Amino acid sequence: MSQLRIALASDHGGFEQKEQLKSWLESQGHEVEDFGCNSEESVDYPDYALPAAMCVAKGQADYGVLVCGTGLGMMLAANKVAGIRAVNITSTGFAELSREHNNANVITLSGRFVNLEENERILEVFFSTEFAGGRHEKRVSKIMAIEQEA
Ligand code: RB5
Repeated sequence: MSQLRIALASDHGGFEQKEQLKSWLESQGHEVEDFGCNSEESVDYPDYALPAAMCVAKGQADYGVLVCGTGLGMMLAANKVAGIRAVNITSTGFAELSREHNNANVITLSGRFVNLEENERILEVFFSTEFAGGRHEKRVSKIMAIEQEA
């Protein structure tokens, strides 16, 4: 796996795994920018999704990795940022397809329903799968065009 720039964030529900995933990502040689949160004190996930997603949208990170209790709130918030294609992933199969077909650039994970080892496998697959392009290019372009019209 090549070295990547990762924008990492969590709320309190994902804090413990965010810390563990940060160490794991760095041990794999990736460059991690941590946008918080910094404890298990209750916080609001959009406050952490926004700066991490903007980092990806500006091209300052290759991918975003956002962790909350389910991953769902982080996904919804990140997808409000122009240029972001955030997917909530709980299996390696969906991790692969979200890159191959959807060219996802932010992955959101569950810190409460998926264990650390499984989330690491999910990230390995997500990072090592290329966008297939071809017929999927037109479809992804149509998703992004919605940002100009809606
Ligand atoms: C926080 O309790 C929880 O709602 C949050 O971590 C996340 O699961 C939201 O989608």
